[in-house]
Amino acid sequence: MKATAKAHTNIALIKYWGKRNESLILPMNNSLSLTLDGFYTTTSVEFREHLLEDHFLLNDHVVAGDEYYRVTRFLDLIRDFSSKPNLYAEVNSINKVPTAAGFASSASGFAALAAAATKALDLSVSNQELSRLTRQGSGSACRSIYGGFVEWEQGKQDDGSDSHAVQVAPANHWDVRVAAVVLSSKMKKVSSRDGMKRTVDTSPFYTSWVETIPNDLDQIKQGITDRDFEKVGRIAESNCLKMHATTLGAEPPFTYWHDTTLAVMHMVRDLRASGVPAYFTIDAGPNVKVLYLPENEETVQNTLRDVPGVTDVILSRSGQGVTYI
Ligand code: DP6
Repeated sequence: MKATAKAHTNIALIKYWGKRNESLILPMNNSLSLTLDGFYTTTSVEFREHLLEDHFLLNDHVVAGDEYYRVTRFLDLIRDFSSKPNLYAEVNSINKVPTAAGFASSASGFAALAAAATKALDLSVSNQELSRLTRQGSGSACRSIYGGFVEWEQGKQDDGSDSHAVQVAPANHWDVRVAAVVLSSKMKKVSSRDGMKRTVDTSPFYTSWVETIPNDLDQIKQGITDRDFEKVGRIAESNCLKMHATTLGAEPPFTYWHDTTLAVMHMVRDLRASGVPAYFTIDAGPNVKVLYLPENEETVQNTLRDVPGVTDVILSRSGQGVTYI
C-alpha cells in the first residue's frame, strides 16, 4: 500500500480565476497551461493499518495547521473512492518548487499526491478520473496530470463529472521555454483562493473578463497548433493583464504586483522592441514568468537577471505529466 509519484507544476497562459462551485472546485471558465519541467513535487504515500491519523512531511518537516487539513481532506476523498475508508497514510513530499520565493506548489503537490495515493490503494483510475480528483485538491493542479499544453474543461455538470483537464499538445510538440523570474522571498498576502473569491464577489470587471475567454482560447489553441510564438505570447500576456485588472476593481481592491514586477514587465516589452520575442505572464503573486524561444535563451536570461530587484531567473522547458517512480 505504498506508491511514489512525481508531478510538475504548470503555468496558465489562459487563467483560471473564479469558481462557480467552491466545494467541488468548479471554475467559471476553461483555462490553458504549459506544464514546466523545472518545478516539481515527488510524493510517497503509504497507507498503514495501525495509524490513527494522516502524517504529512514536506521537505522533511512535519506539516500542521491549514496545509495539513487540506491534505487530509483530500485524502478523505480518495479514501471514499476506495474500499478502505478507515486507513490513514504517511505522506512524504519533496518540493522542487521555490515556495519561499512565492512560487505556488499546490499544482504539482496535489497532482503528485492524487497519483501516489490512488496508486497506493491500487485504484484503477484513468488520467481523466485522476484529473477530476486532483481538481478537488486545487483547481490548477488538475492540469498537471498531463504534460505539454493542457486545457482544463470547466464542464457543464453540477457534480463536476465533466470538469477535468485534457492534453492539447504534448511536450515535444514545440520547444517553448519559460524563465521564472524570482523577485521576492515574501509570502503572498492574498492567496489565489481568497483573491479569486473576492474578485468574483465584488469586482465589476469580472463579467467582462469571463466573456473574453472563449475567443482567447480559440486563438491560443490555433497558435499552439501552428507553433505561432507571437500569437501565443500576445494572447497569454493580454489574458494575464485582464485577469490582474479584475483585482483592481475588487472590494477591497488588491494587486499582486510589486514595483519589480512592473520593472520586469517593462523589460520584456523592451526585449520585444529590440527584436527578441518574449512575453510575460503572472499568477497570484509578484513573480513573473517569461515565455521565450530556445535561440533567445541567453539574451532573455541575462536581460532579466540585470533588472534591479530580481534575485534569480530559473529556466524551464515544457514538462511531462504525472509519472510513477
Ligand atoms: C492565478 O488553483 O491555486 O494561478 O483552486 O482555489 O486551489 P484553488 O486555486 P489555484 O488558483 C490558480 C490561479 C492562477 C491561475 C491559474 O493557474 O490558472
